Amino acid sequence: PPHQEVKIIHRDINTYVGFANLPKQWHRKSIRRGFNFNLLCVGQSGLGKSTLINTLFNKDIYDLHQSEIGEDDFVSNEEEEEDNDRVKIDTISTTIEENGVELNLTVIEAPGFGDFIDNTNSWEPIIDEINSRFDQYLDSENKIDRSNIIHEDNRIHACLYFIEPTGHNLKALDLKFMEMIHTKCNLIPIISKSDILDDNEIFEFKNVIKQQLLENNIEYFKPPTYAVDDSESIAMTEQLYDLIPYAIVGGEQGTRSRSYPWGIIEVDNPQHCDFVFLRDVLIKNFMEELREKTNTVLYENYRSNKLKSLGIKQDNSVFREYDPELKELEDKKLHEAKLAKLETEMKTVFQQKVSEKEKKLQKSESELFQRHKEMKDKLTKQLKALEEKKHQLEMSLANQVSNSPVQSKKKGFLR
Ligand code: GTP
Ligand code: MG
Repeated sequence: PPHQEVKIIHRDINTYVGFANLPKQWHRKSIRRGFNFNLLCVGQSGLGKSTLINTLFNKDIYDLHQSEIGEDDFVSNEEEEEDNDRVKIDTISTTIEENGVELNLTVIEAPGFGDFIDNTNSWEPIIDEINSRFDQYLDSENKIDRSNIIHEDNRIHACLYFIEPTGHNLKALDLKFMEMIHTKCNLIPIISKSDILDDNEIFEFKNVIKQQLLENNIEYFKPPTYAVDDSESIAMTEQLYDLIPYAIVGGEQGTRSRSYPWGIIEVDNPQHCDFVFLRDVLIKNFMEELREKTNTVLYENYRSNKLKSLGIKQDNSVFREYDPELKELEDKKLHEAKLAKLETEMKTVFQQKVSEKEKKLQKSESELFQRHKEMKDKLTKQLKALEEKKHQLEMSLANQVSNSPVQSKKKGFLR
């Protein structure tokens, strides 16, 4: 039989087909969908967190004059006020628009972090927050209807860590926190209020910090050079990484500068501070990379660890979308784990309710006894008083009878 040949015909397209328009379609769709970014800010009180956020997004997201937070923004305080020696989680969301592009920004803060005498485990509420946001995403991914829906992405895309401008060393708490967080979150350490250090001090401090981070195996976000194309941009991207931890200055209320008797520091001037580099990484050039890395590396890492802990073996994340059997198994395990958790939670609540009820009953029982006893005592007292009165009355009656004038008259009369 004659050898059958598969013929592939290569032909230049000389008529316009239309897929050159794909980027435009994609662009339109993303604009419509909007962008979201969730930023965690951690650092001791007064290190200029709110000031920096306002300067970064050029909006009074935080009201620095009166209350802590601008009034037209959505605020939730997830913990109650009563816990005064615990790190809390505060969330503030706002929409920012620039040239028709909307950014839904959420800033997560941890008031109280580093502010107590004993800061042991003060990173725990923050780690819990990151994990619960991962869990929520995992849940939404595993919903039955997986068809084409866009999941709301509440995962934390970056963490700004504010280092106090001491010029000496990182504190134990700094290192501990960054060590706990860097595998869960894109870490960007910054030296805040760096205007109190001179250029030399900043240079030295940066080197010390970098050395300490290296010794403790703490990684921070590296803007990827593959995300840019020309050699100039590659060099700039490398420089962006080298300059971390950025030495930052935040603008005075409503301004983009800070005035001193000896002059003015312009926030946006790269000769004055590293603010523009931070803005480049966080917003202008690498926001999408931060989101991407959160999804493909940090979340994926969390996800596979979680599934492993549930006894699901899987390592090749590329295949997970295409293996319905594995997906079903995962769903089942996750569902079972959720049910088990719900059950134990319900049991605890039930037991709590029962013991509360019992205590209440015991209390009301003893109250009842007490009241009964009081009543009895009162009645006994009343009875006694009455008897006393009766006795007195009888006595006085008897007296009256024996001394009655009628009787004496009678006596006299008889006499
Ligand atoms: P908490 O909300 O209490 O945790 O403080 P915060 O970290 O949000 O600090 P905030 O932005 O409220 O700033 C505290 C004080 O530091 C304010 O008086 C700011 O004007 C001042 N400040 C902020 N940024 C800088 C800076 O870069 N340099 C200097 N010198 N002062 C700054
Ligand atoms: Mg603040």
